[in-house]
Amino acid sequence: MPRKYVIGGNWKCNGTVAQVSDLVSTLNKAGDFPSNAEVVIAPTFLHVPMVKDAVRSDVNVSLQNCSVDSFGAYTGEIAPEMIADFGLKWVITGHSERRTGFGGQAGETSEIVAKKTKKAIEAGLTVIACVGESLDEREAGNTLKVVLEEHLAAIADALSQEQWAKVVVAYEPVWAIGTGKTASPEQAQDVHASIRSWLSDKVSPEVAEATRIIYGGSVKGSNAGTLADCADIDGFLVGGASLKPEFIDIINAVE
Ligand code: G3H
Repeated sequence: MPRKYVIGGNWKCNGTVAQVSDLVSTLNKAGDFPSNAEVVIAPTFLHVPMVKDAVRSDVNVSLQNCSVDSFGAYTGEIAPEMIADFGLKWVITGHSERRTGFGGQAGETSEIVAKKTKKAIEAGLTVIACVGESLDEREAGNTLKVVLEEHLAAIADALSQEQWAKVVVAYEPVWAIGTGKTASPEQAQDVHASIRSWLSDKVSPEVAEATRIIYGGSVKGSNAGTLADCADIDGFLVGGASLKPEFIDIINAVE
């Protein structure tokens, strides 16, 4: 069965109430999306309820992160079970901005990302699990070591074979995020093919064939079509351009 594209919009820490309303209205007025595209948007925690109530029913609303723990004394956290209870089905884990840490906070290790991914799946969510190397790691020739042996291996160690049905892998080279420097279709396809082959060896050929592997890093309306034509690129996780009407062009580029 052909894999359905996933087009994700990660709004990160962006948006006023007025801007979020405009974005929702742009999506709602965009006409039919391609039938081979699954659209997911991830507003901030604060904006999720208003987006969920107002956005068209064929757009999934995702959280950008979740807690590694369940309900309890974890100030400022959102438990995966809460997300499911709220009627949502998607969450992003392991975004590089969370792995790196910011604002003086420690980043998340691959083990934490793997644990969150597992907890979210157990709560009934589908997870967009992010992996990707930094510029230094790429220049040192360590792209596959980081992506496969560190990021993906930790997730694979935590999950059963069946749980992979609830995972979308997002390959996001850190050097391409928000920099305007998109990986070339060849660079992205090479890593995506390696991820698929690694999944085939380490998990199973069936999981490798079925898992959607999406690309993130300066995806734009102008490069989405060429990237989507690559055999192992099954969609996108879009940051900056998902905050603009251009996101509709990216969705339509997979038709
Ligand atoms: O989650 C999305 C990625 O970080 C990509 O962001 O499209 O602004 O480069 P970007």
